[in-house]
Amino acid sequence: MILRYFNFDQKKRIIILKGHIPEEKIEEVKARANIVDVVSEYVTLKKTGRNFVGLCPFHREKTPSFTVNPEKQIFRCFGCGESGNTISFLMKMNNMSFPEAVRHLAGKLGITIPIRDMSGQEKKIASEREKLGRINQMAAEYFSGNLSSNMGKAARDYLKERGIDDFIVKKFRLGYSREGWRNLKDFFDGEKIPLELVEKAGLIISKGNGKSYYDRFRNRLIFPIMDLNGSIVAFGGRVIDKGEPKYLNSPESPVYIKGKTLYGLYQTKMEISKKNDAIIVEGYLDFLSLWGAGVTNVVATLGTALTKDQVELIRRFSRNVAVIFDPDEAGRHAVERSLQLFLEKEMRARVVILPEDCDPDDYVRRFGGEALEDIISHSPSMIDYYIEKIIGGKGTLEETLDSVKDSVSFIRNISNLVQRNLFIKRVSEKLGVDQEVLKTEVNKKPARYKNLTAKVESHRKEVRKVDMVELNLISIMIQYPEKIPVVVRENTLDFFYSPELKKLGEILVEAFKRGKVKSVSDLVDDLEDDVLKDKILKSMMEQPPLDATIIDKSFLDTIIRIRGKWYKNKREIIQREITKAQGAGNTELSEKLVIEKDKLLKEEMILMNL
Ligand code: CTP
Ligand code: MN
Repeated sequence: MILRYFNFDQKKRIIILKGHIPEEKIEEVKARANIVDVVSEYVTLKKTGRNFVGLCPFHREKTPSFTVNPEKQIFRCFGCGESGNTISFLMKMNNMSFPEAVRHLAGKLGITIPIRDMSGQEKKIASEREKLGRINQMAAEYFSGNLSSNMGKAARDYLKERGIDDFIVKKFRLGYSREGWRNLKDFFDGEKIPLELVEKAGLIISKGNGKSYYDRFRNRLIFPIMDLNGSIVAFGGRVIDKGEPKYLNSPESPVYIKGKTLYGLYQTKMEISKKNDAIIVEGYLDFLSLWGAGVTNVVATLGTALTKDQVELIRRFSRNVAVIFDPDEAGRHAVERSLQLFLEKEMRARVVILPEDCDPDDYVRRFGGEALEDIISHSPSMIDYYIEKIIGGKGTLEETLDSVKDSVSFIRNISNLVQRNLFIKRVSEKLGVDQEVLKTEVNKKPARYKNLTAKVESHRKEVRKVDMVELNLISIMIQYPEKIPVVVRENTLDFFYSPELKKLGEILVEAFKRGKVKSVSDLVDDLEDDVLKDKILKSMMEQPPLDATIIDKSFLDTIIRIRGKWYKNKREIIQREITKAQGAGNTELSEKLVIEKDKLLKEEMILMNL
């Protein structure tokens, strides 16, 4: 029985099937959740008129533009444009999947979502990711058990020597993998877990023929790596004291993408958000050492260059970062590379270079957490650092020319024009090169093609308008579903110009036919186009609830205006075609078109007098 391991309740292990929540449970959660309560756990909200406002958790701001509308159960930030409903708020805030957010909410509301015995169908659906997460979880428990057992003595001593106390061990779930080739493999065998899956999780390695396996981590300290929800996705293993290689890590797997993961962020994200600053270090032990010394707004990159995805992850919690770099050539390159990322994401980054070749762990152990915080609070902005220490500070003419070249290619990658100009100004001052000359150099080649197309694309989206009359009809359909049959009877949706709004209308009609009523916040999930979604939410937020006393009239007006608009547009098109046909001397066509136009006019007269 391959899937037996999903049923070991006897060990009090609960299988959480993240997907697969019964539809009616989702409905119940959505209906009972109150967006103001949910958001209030993360943002301090103040009531102003119909809405609540607070400081946006998705971007840095001094005056509140994050707006929550309790009537429609939606939120929108007028600063950065993030918007959505309760569930999408939780998804964004905590990097949760949809089912995770629903379960989280259900937990808070005391709604139990049954964890049923899995039927054949469900077994199939239980995704590989979930199985791997489960396996990692079991391995972490196993490693943790080892560390506190007799066999873990040397590892415990080593941790003590490194200043890692029991509290940290527990909080970060550190463990120990025993000496020997098959301890973990035998453990999973005993639990009847298919070893191919354990291999896929990266915990064991298959030997040649694929039928025999051995443990990846042997006699190592184990650092579980978690995703933002606290699920263990991978492990790092350090030799006890000295030996090679110093670190072994899980390979990438369906649950672990190195460049999209940051060590410790799960435990420190709230602290980072509160302090509105993240300190980025490289290693497990740097991280733990800082955390232990009270510098708790820290994350670690695990020894690789910072990626765009990682920057985006951090950005959810703070726009300010201080990166502790090594003072060597590699560190220099890292500054240059990551500065580009930070600029692109409009983050405020500072550079911390520690004195006397200390790594963060050394420094904290020698001088304490407060001394480190002091250095961090005086650290220069990455831009200043880059210009002073990397571009500038060089002597000979050749060196200056090299610096100009470097900075030109650097500046070309800055797509934000304001930032670009600032940079040009600063660099020209630093290197004593005329600003205009530098500008010409920078503009010789166009900025990366990608940026250009992105700009064209965003411009194209910018000009697209949401038709307010059509949107008004959608609002009516939401607030007064009893009007929907009239919309259907009059085929009003066929007169819509916005395909997206038309689709929304169709969704409402469909739901109505099935005896359901959809709210604004439901519809947020139905809209795929972000720009449009944002515009719709914006206007819905600004729109007062429709007045019941005039709804009948307003409804009729709206239908007529939508039709009127459609006919007007049609008339104009036909008129243009008539002019064109006449110009080309095609009388046959032009007469046909004139007849069509008359027909259309008559139709319009009848319909508009409904
Ligand atoms: N690293 C790795 N593999 C290695 C060396 C390093 O994955 N062979 C990663 C680890 O995540 C490590 C980080 O790079 O934590 C930083 O490396 P290093 O500074 O050498 O390790 P420290 O964390 O400082 O560990 P220690 O203080 O025990 O040397
Ligand atoms: Mn170290």
